[in-house]
Amino acid sequence: MGTTHLRLDKFISNATDFSRSQVKLLVRSGRVKVEGTTAHDPGLTIGDNAVVSVDEHPVGRPMARYFMLHKPAGVVSATRDSKHPTALDLLDEPRPDQLQIAGRLDIDTTGLLLITDDGQWNHRVTSPRSQCLKTYRVVVAEPLDSGIIGKFAHGLWLAGEKRRCLPATLELIDNTEALLTIGEGKYHQVKRMFASLGNNVIGLHRLRIGGIALDADLDPGEYRALTKAEIASVNALD
Ligand code: URA
Repeated sequence: MGTTHLRLDKFISNATDFSRSQVKLLVRSGRVKVEGTTAHDPGLTIGDNAVVSVDEHPVGRPMARYFMLHKPAGVVSATRDSKHPTALDLLDEPRPDQLQIAGRLDIDTTGLLLITDDGQWNHRVTSPRSQCLKTYRVVVAEPLDSGIIGKFAHGLWLAGEKRRCLPATLELIDNTEALLTIGEGKYHQVKRMFASLGNNVIGLHRLRIGGIALDADLDPGEYRALTKAEIASVNALD
């Protein structure tokens, strides 16, 4: 993993309760050291492993944060939106500007949404290379025929795509409801998969991403921090 570089004032404000403008004052008053030497420029570029202290107290690197949210319908998977509430509006956390969504859901889709400020982890969740499996409960408008299970397993061809989808697993629950597990996350993928078979998705709920299942104790709109095991369940890319 390479070193990320950032400004000294950003490094300190990320890791402490000091605002960027307070940090600038601290630096200018000679209270900040980088690698043991007093720093004078708040805009100094440093690596994220740099040893930084304020008044001789070491400033730790901020702990990365990982959350699962039970996304309700009507909320957008975006950090900002002028018309609708966003997933981040549902979190009561400091430094919300640093949080990112790992795998978006449509506004009408409910269920498991992962949110983090660890960009590398986000990449591992969402990269098609990692084939992190996502399971959805799908409700469709027209009756399902067991013959389509093989079509999903073979790999469906979606309109406008150059390649087939990766093989997917469909388990029928009843004649209009199924569990679908896919290893990639193309735009509106599940809706387009059923549309390619002439059916319409009328309800979509994400239950699982890799080893992380939506916590049944979370009501729509509630969230919690991920456990260490859940965070570690997302494998490194080769
Ligand atoms: N596929 C979709 O079509 N929509 C979602 O929200 C997620 C997967």
